[in-house]
Amino acid sequence: MEVLNIAPVRFEEGKMLVLDQTQLPGNTVYLEMQTKEDVWDAIYKLKVRGAPAIGVAAGYGLYVSVREVDAADYQDFYRQFMEVKNYLASSRPTAVNLFWALDRMEACVRRFEGRAGDPWKELQGEIKVALLAEAEQIRIEDERACRSMGEYGLTLLKPGMGILTHCNAGTIATAKYGTCLAPLYIGHEQGYDFKVFADETRPLLQGARLTAWELNQAGIDTTLICDNMASIVMKNGWIDAVVVGCDRMARNGDGANKIGTSGVAILAHEYGIPFYMFVPTSTIDRNTKTGDDIHIELRAGEEIYKLWYEKDMAPEGVKTYNPAFDVTPAKYITAVVTEKGILYPPYEESIRKIFEEE
Ligand code: MRU
Repeated sequence: MEVLNIAPVRFEEGKMLVLDQTQLPGNTVYLEMQTKEDVWDAIYKLKVRGAPAIGVAAGYGLYVSVREVDAADYQDFYRQFMEVKNYLASSRPTAVNLFWALDRMEACVRRFEGRAGDPWKELQGEIKVALLAEAEQIRIEDERACRSMGEYGLTLLKPGMGILTHCNAGTIATAKYGTCLAPLYIGHEQGYDFKVFADETRPLLQGARLTAWELNQAGIDTTLICDNMASIVMKNGWIDAVVVGCDRMARNGDGANKIGTSGVAILAHEYGIPFYMFVPTSTIDRNTKTGDDIHIELRAGEEIYKLWYEKDMAPEGVKTYNPAFDVTPAKYITAVVTEKGILYPPYEESIRKIFEEE
């Protein structure tokens, strides 16, 4: 499947390239990231989006932003590194993979602290090599995690099933395969013949522009619906399972994902349809106790009434409320698919266990 080779972030011949997802489905354009401002802007404007892909972009982005630094000594390098790290961390607040990846990069620099007395120029070179290797590792691990979630996820699905998904948790939201779309790709290869319904996902249309685009290219039977049609397709008996991604899961199993996800979960509960959330362990935030503690990003109201329209679709000066995510309470999540296995309630316990096993 060709579409699986379209990576959201590439690092080739010393260049960091980001697939500009705001131009999809019309154009497949890669933008070179040369400065920290380029990386910040790409994340903020959703040129690169989806929690795991944001993590991958943060890793390479941090490397690219500090590779020209010529510091006086280790402390000076660390100070400059932290300035860039904190700046990139301010791009979007909800997807924990951003902070998780930036913290990994920081831990990489700190591993050299004990050698701060070594000849500095050589050490600085070594640190930069290690930072690039760490960014590569984040990408490689995510690809493996997605493949594994795909295999675990497929055990929950049967050939011919009708599946509803919200937003885009596909290959371009991750290093490869996607989280909740991974089992659909793997199943498709094995002739599962799924019938997928993609919510368009207002206001930024990740379902219409990205999920429908991905699945169509893969030759998976896909029907696009408006968000407010989820209930009728469930009532019609066309949906056997809901699969969604996650931006941050609290340690009690409450999961933040694209705005509208919690409504889909509540509907699925009402209709007795299993609701599966796909959550790599990099998206589980054990420092967050419950969904109430998750910072929900608020975005400009223009995204609601202007962005995709030729002229404004609301009266001038109208008040808007545009939260980018909502939290699905753990009680509506039938199972959480991670790369280490499938978790069932009570999530507080099953989440604790997979981290203990690490
Ligand atoms: O605002 P976005 O497009 O970054 O939101 C993306 C989502 O909500 C995805 O479902 C989530 O990040 C999981 S991606 C594997």
